[in-house]
Amino acid sequence: MTIQWFPGHMTRAKRQIEEKLKLIDVVFELLDARIPQSSRNPMVDEITASKPRLVLLNKADLADPALTAEWSSYFRAKGLATHVIDANAGTGVKELASKAKELLQEKIQRQVDKGMKPRPVRALIVGIPNVGKSTLINRLAGRNIAITGDRPGVTKGQQWIRFGGELELLDTPGILWPKFDDPIAGFRLAATGAIKEEVLHIDEVACFVLKVLVENYGSVLKDRYGLEGLPAELPDMQAAIDVLESIGKRRGCIVSGGHVDFEKAATLLLRDLRSGKLGRMTLESPDNA
Ligand code: G4P
Repeated sequence: MTIQWFPGHMTRAKRQIEEKLKLIDVVFELLDARIPQSSRNPMVDEITASKPRLVLLNKADLADPALTAEWSSYFRAKGLATHVIDANAGTGVKELASKAKELLQEKIQRQVDKGMKPRPVRALIVGIPNVGKSTLINRLAGRNIAITGDRPGVTKGQQWIRFGGELELLDTPGILWPKFDDPIAGFRLAATGAIKEEVLHIDEVACFVLKVLVENYGSVLKDRYGLEGLPAELPDMQAAIDVLESIGKRRGCIVSGGHVDFEKAATLLLRDLRSGKLGRMTLESPDNA
């Protein structure tokens, strides 16, 4: 889903989430494990402050496992409960009920002490577009349901999806806006496909990705595209363009006159990255968060 965010939309999104928060016990904040910092809404702490929150590092199947472990520690050190999932395959999803209950342990205990039978924990998924909210809701529902996140009169017509006997999920997620003011976050969001056909040019996004690959996943470009003798880092844009040109040549992305079609080469690289064909990789580290 591509949404053009303007100040008015942000205010409305914030208000809609605040309405939904009145109905739930716990927030599931969904992040992309490949870009946990860049896929975080800048105001999520403030918007969801009234409820306990579980950070979910989704798309873990595409992310570098060592860095996912580092990011989990990073969020835990900030006092945020964190859990790693792959909503597509369902890995880690069945533990959500017990993770949510852990966050509400004291409240549940108080109910038990009063002789009450605790009702299922009610949860809301929030996150920026394309982070996997619909996939997770469908996974928990056990079927494909039409997800609409932006309807007027938000508390009307919403349904609870039951997962086991202990968790209920609001069927409309809270859609938050991504980071706009940090250009590097913009490149990371574009690289993973979280923002599409927007301001960033695909060649530039590909060059950004190549810089990360050369510096952190050196052997991938050799293994996938047969590129030999790459430097340990790409000092400038021209160096990245040279690597993109080599990929274009290796993959036959050529236009008339024998020149490399950079846009085609960039599209191919980004498709390979997003589909996991380059291997599991994470585009940012907690060291520079
Ligand atoms: P949203 O509601 O937050 O906007 O996201 P949505 O569920 O639509 O998911 C966006 C894309 O991410 C979908 O791919 C979905 O299959 C994929 N996805 C979600 N969770 C996971 C996961 O854990 N692992 C992997 N590998 N992919 C996941 P898509 O339909 O192909 O859309 P697109 O890639 O063309 O945008």
